[in-house]
Amino acid sequence: MNNSPVLTIDGPSGSGKGTIAQMLAREFGWHYLDSGAIYRVLAYATLKHNIDLSEEANIVKMAEQLELRFQLEDTGLKVLLEGEEVSEHIRSEKAGNAASKVAVIPAVRTALLQRQRDFCQPPGLVTDGRDMGTVVFPDAQFKVFLTASAEERALRRHKQLKEKGIESNLSGLIKEISERDKRDSEREVAPLKAAKDALILDSTQLGISTVYEKVRAFCT
Ligand code: C5P
Repeated sequence: MNNSPVLTIDGPSGSGKGTIAQMLAREFGWHYLDSGAIYRVLAYATLKHNIDLSEEANIVKMAEQLELRFQLEDTGLKVLLEGEEVSEHIRSEKAGNAASKVAVIPAVRTALLQRQRDFCQPPGLVTDGRDMGTVVFPDAQFKVFLTASAEERALRRHKQLKEKGIESNLSGLIKEISERDKRDSEREVAPLKAAKDALILDSTQLGISTVYEKVRAFCT
């Protein structure tokens, strides 16, 4: 790893960490790593290649060879797997759940570690995920843990889906989000938790611009 500054934003799904991380990466002119997208693409690739989620050795091999590219554009993050754009496919709840299942496998996490660290390049990196401040970049200068209640996160997801013309069931979303939180928090390797030196922000009652200002002020 080089000495470029790193800002890690960890937290559960729907906490707004991706939005804030992208806004700050643009503002600082730093690189951006959406680590969750790597797990999502891996889960998508296993389905694409007909690998069952129980076939650990094959999933690890796939993690080692994953041909993946990210491009941060004005409209959001463009994700390419083996040259195919998968940006939308990997954002479904189903893809998120499958991602959290492959993410439980310790050898998968080891296989993806260096790939994530390679994103740390001058002039700096903003990254979001679950274990960025605890495991992947333990020496990061700025660490934030962004959270919100499961109900609020489900409501945000419900609104997002509605804007895309997709109907969803709020209580079903709360259940899915809570199950994923549980799996992510209770796994043995790199569980979802705040680093000891992280700024903890609860965004349940806060708008995105307030969270953005707070994180920006923390980094400057
Ligand atoms: O952040 P996002 O919801 O896209 O992440 C999808 C899943 O990938 C998470 O539920 C989690 O299980 C896994 N993940 C992880 N470690 C990270 C980022 C994501 O285990 N650093």
